[in-house]
Amino acid sequence: MALTKTSRVVIIGTGAVGSSYAFSMINQNITDEMVLIDLQKEKTEGDAMDLNHGLPFGSPTKIWAGEYSDCKDADIVVITAGAAQQPGESRLDLVEKNTKIFQGIVGSVMDSGFDGIFIVATNPVDVLAYATWKFSGLPQERVIGSGTILDTARFRFLLGEYFDIDVRNIHAYIMGEHGDTELPVWSQTRIGLEPLERYMSKYKPEGSKEDLDEIFVNVRDAAYHIIERKGATHYAIAMGLARLTKAILRNEKSIMTVSTLMEGEYGLDDVYIGVPAVVSEKGVEKVIEIDLNEQEMKQLQHSSATLKEVLQPVKD
Ligand code: LAC
Repeated sequence: MALTKTSRVVIIGTGAVGSSYAFSMINQNITDEMVLIDLQKEKTEGDAMDLNHGLPFGSPTKIWAGEYSDCKDADIVVITAGAAQQPGESRLDLVEKNTKIFQGIVGSVMDSGFDGIFIVATNPVDVLAYATWKFSGLPQERVIGSGTILDTARFRFLLGEYFDIDVRNIHAYIMGEHGDTELPVWSQTRIGLEPLERYMSKYKPEGSKEDLDEIFVNVRDAAYHIIERKGATHYAIAMGLARLTKAILRNEKSIMTVSTLMEGEYGLDDVYIGVPAVVSEKGVEKVIEIDLNEQEMKQLQHSSATLKEVLQPVKD
C-alpha cells in the first residue's frame, strides 16, 4: 500500500524548455513520476534514457517516454510544445500557429480523462493559457500560465546586482503580459523592508531613475538579447516552471506572478495576465490585488487591452 499518493507530472514538448524543465525537476526531486511526450518520439525516448542514467547521482524518480493516455493519472500537465520565437519575432507573432497546435494537444490530454492542473509555458503564454482554459473546460484556477514569473525573477536578479543585495531580499514584481507591454511595479518595490526610493536615498545616493529604467528595459527585452546570442531561452524558464510545480505539489501557498484569469480584479476581466497570486494544490487559490499607482494601473490596462486584441482567434 502506497503511504502517500504518487505524484505524476507530464511534460508535453521536450525541446529546449521541456528537457531543461525535466532536468530541473529531477535534480530538485520534485515529483515521483515524470512522463515525456513529444511529436519526436525518439527524442523523448532518448531524453528518458539519458535522465534515468543520472538517477544514481540523484533521487529516485520514475521517468518514461509516454503517451497521452498517461495524462489520466497525472497531477500536472505542463505544455512547452509549440513554435518558438525566432530572432526579431515577438511572442504575440506566434498566436495563430500555436493556438492551432494547442487545440490538438489540449484535446488529446482531456480525452485521456485528465482532471488535474495545466501549467502553460508556450508563448504567447497569456493567450495560450486562456486557450487551454477554453479548450479544456477546466475551472480557471486549474489552468495556470507561467506569466511573468521569469520577468519577476530577472527583475529581482538585476536589482540585486545593482544594489549588491541577495536577490531573496529584493521584493519586486513585473506584472502584465509576458512580453513587450509588461510593467515594473516600482511603487511597491522594497529592498528588505525599505521602500526602493528610501533605500536608494540612504544607501545608494549615486543611483538614478535612468539606471532603474535601464534595468527594466533589460528585463523586458532579455529574451530578445538571449535569442540573438544562443537561439533560445530555456534554463531560467525551466527553473521557474519547476518552482511553480513544487508550489502546487507541496501545497506551498506561494505568491507568484503567474498568468491567471481576471474576473474583475484590477478592473480587468476575461483575460489571462500576469498578476501576483497564491499558488497551492488547488492551482491559483486567489489573486492578490496590490496597490498600483495611476501610471502602473494604466500600463496594466494597456497590457490587458493588447492581449485582448489578439485573443479573438481563440474565442472564435
Ligand atoms: C523568455 C521566454 C520564456 O522570456 O518567453 O525567456
